[in-house]
Amino acid sequence: MDIQDLAAIAQQMVAQGKGIIAIDESSKTIKKRFDQVGIDCTEDTRRAYREMLLTTPNLGDHISGAILYDETLRQSTRTGQRFVDAMHAAGILPGIKVDLGTVGLAGFPGELITEGLDGLRERLKEYVGLGARFAKWRAVITIGDDMPSAACIDANTHALARYAALCQEAGIVPMVEPEVLMDGDHDIETCFDVTEAALRSLYAALYEHNVFLEGSILKASMVLPGKHCEEQADIDEVAEATLMCLRAAVPAAVPGIVFLSGGQSDEMATAHLNAMSQMGPHPWPLSFSYGRAMQSAALKLWARDMVGNFSAAQQTVAQRAKENGLAALGQWRA
Ligand code: 13P
Repeated sequence: MDIQDLAAIAQQMVAQGKGIIAIDESSKTIKKRFDQVGIDCTEDTRRAYREMLLTTPNLGDHISGAILYDETLRQSTRTGQRFVDAMHAAGILPGIKVDLGTVGLAGFPGELITEGLDGLRERLKEYVGLGARFAKWRAVITIGDDMPSAACIDANTHALARYAALCQEAGIVPMVEPEVLMDGDHDIETCFDVTEAALRSLYAALYEHNVFLEGSILKASMVLPGKHCEEQADIDEVAEATLMCLRAAVPAAVPGIVFLSGGQSDEMATAHLNAMSQMGPHPWPLSFSYGRAMQSAALKLWARDMVGNFSAAQQTVAQRAKENGLAALGQWRA
């Protein structure tokens, strides 16, 4: 795989009107989601749930790729077809979450650092062999009193840069994700400043580590007031603030930006993307890489009757994919 192949895959990930479905919850995180809807979390229920999502008819119409967890990359449909093969057949690029989650950053109570660099070169080699074409690493930036520290931002973006360089060495497109959390009562201006600082630090680190930006994708959080801020922002304010922040900090060489939903409702995640798309043209295609905002309706339905609601749950996945695909084009109507 040469560097131009990486660029081609990155462009495919943000093809017009298409986005990513994030189904890469670790077994610990998916257990939390299953607990909320009363499903036992076993290897087979996780497999069955991911089969429902990934075999949604015509999913490839609006979905260019899916981010999987290690376990899912190795699993198959009940009829024995490897998920990865089913995805390639449906025109959906397999992606893999390669970070190992967050732990407390020593010396900075309340702040987090993402782990998973040790042994990553070998793991990436295996993932490429299993069919993965892109990878994801999520860094988490928390806003609070005197937070985030510069040390937290720089430690996380340094890790993102080392991960991205290893991905490109292995021939896999890195999706770099510095998520600024919505938790807290901070205002939208604070989120703007923190997001801008994190993105500037990220692109400085990627430059320093010789990462080929054309063969990478940014997974960004939107610029939003904290969940508990008294003054919430309307859709256009969020769209304008997010775009202003991205323009200031993300080089035009980046082939695409996809957003995480981060706890927004399905409808708000779609409305915000739609508003941003309508404010174009932009230096990069914008699209989605939603986890909860793609899955929550389907999970609720499927949990009520895994067999009887299988198709109905898939229809909600297809519907969310279609709506977000329209939003990526600025053509969504509420
Ligand atoms: P949400 O859209 O649920 O935030 O998940 C996206 C994701 O992959 C976060 O890493």
